[in-house]
Amino acid sequence: MERGYAIIGHRMERILSGKPSPEDLPLDTTLRPKRFADFVGQEKIKDNLRIAIAAARGRGETLDHILFYGPPGLGKTTLAYVVASEMGVNIRITSGPAIERPGDLAAILTNLKENHILFIDEVHRLSRAVEEVLYPALEEFALDLVIGKGPGARSLRLKLPPFTLIGATTRYAHLSPPLRDRFGAVYRLDFYDVPAMEAIVRRSAGILKVEVQDGGVVEIARRARGTPRVANRLLKRVRDYAQVRAEGVITEPVAQEALARLEVDPIGLDEIDHRVLRVIIEKFGGGPVGLETIAAAISEEPDTIMDVYEPFLLQLGFLERTPRGRVATRSAYEHLGLPYPKETAQGSLW
Ligand SMILES: Nc1ncnc2c1ncn2[C@@H]1O[C@H](COP(=O)(O)OP(=O)(O)OP(=O)(O)O)[C@@H](O)[C@H]1O
Ligand SMILES: [Mg+2]
Repeated sequence: MERGYAIIGHRMERILSGKPSPEDLPLDTTLRPKRFADFVGQEKIKDNLRIAIAAARGRGETLDHILFYGPPGLGKTTLAYVVASEMGVNIRITSGPAIERPGDLAAILTNLKENHILFIDEVHRLSRAVEEVLYPALEEFALDLVIGKGPGARSLRLKLPPFTLIGATTRYAHLSPPLRDRFGAVYRLDFYDVPAMEAIVRRSAGILKVEVQDGGVVEIARRARGTPRVANRLLKRVRDYAQVRAEGVITEPVAQEALARLEVDPIGLDEIDHRVLRVIIEKFGGGPVGLETIAAAISEEPDTIMDVYEPFLLQLGFLERTPRGRVATRSAYEHLGLPYPKETAQGSLW
């Protein structure tokens, strides 16, 4: 029983989590929009970026440092590439954990050219020592090097060409405040609404040359938890099913059948979402209950629940965060078809 769950859990995590898996790599690259015109949704962010880019280009200046944050698979990396191509500049890609020592960062910085973009994914995972080197680079385009050791050590300041840092993170709260303050623009990516998800499914189907009818588009879009990476992954699975069982055409019933096989419910919840909600409701009277306790009860990593499952459940209004822990809402009970306890019983827990 335990083992069966673990296997199902692992499989579902790959299909429905916004987190990238190795099988996404070719898909991510083929389907990744290159310009604002192909980037669906996030209208406010696009508007603000367009203005910032036009202004910087007009003045012939470097774009301000930008931070994108939000759950996995919503388009942070994609936006960084789009900004680079709209600015007409090169982009150098790296990540927090890849920059191990201050020297690694120094090497990257000294190789940048004027107005280039440095993209640091998982920017919350930079070490303290690396961050210390980054601050003057961001503020004054300067690199402070220490030459030698002990009392004879000297410090040397190198000038860097002006560049733009684009940082991305799923964990805004883990970013150190001094680093946070050095981004001139901070954008939070939200889950996409259904019309935007439909447009993304249509666009991807076009690129993959899959025939998909309106009903099929809606079905995939509704179950992709507002996350483009999940939509692309579901589309790929449904395409396989359609090819083998339905002569390649994704109709509404074909999409429904394929998605039911993947155990994705009609609003995009999977086995793990259901278990999170059920544990809170059935074992802890609806909450409040701490994240660690929930994680232990369903044998999942607390980080996975926090990054992958919880944001969408919060967005649906199925879960609430309180100072004393997570609480399942009435909508969660209703979705699972469970009777909601008396208001007073829930109310007294607060
Ligand atoms: N607005 C969009 N329109 C169309 N496709 C999109 C959009 N945003 C993302 N995608 C698709 O979803 C995939 C995942 O997006 P991306 O890699 O940018 O997410 P991310 O936010 O960087 O995720 P992570 O937190 O895992 O790094 C992209 O390859 C692209 O195909
Ligand atoms: Mg990314």
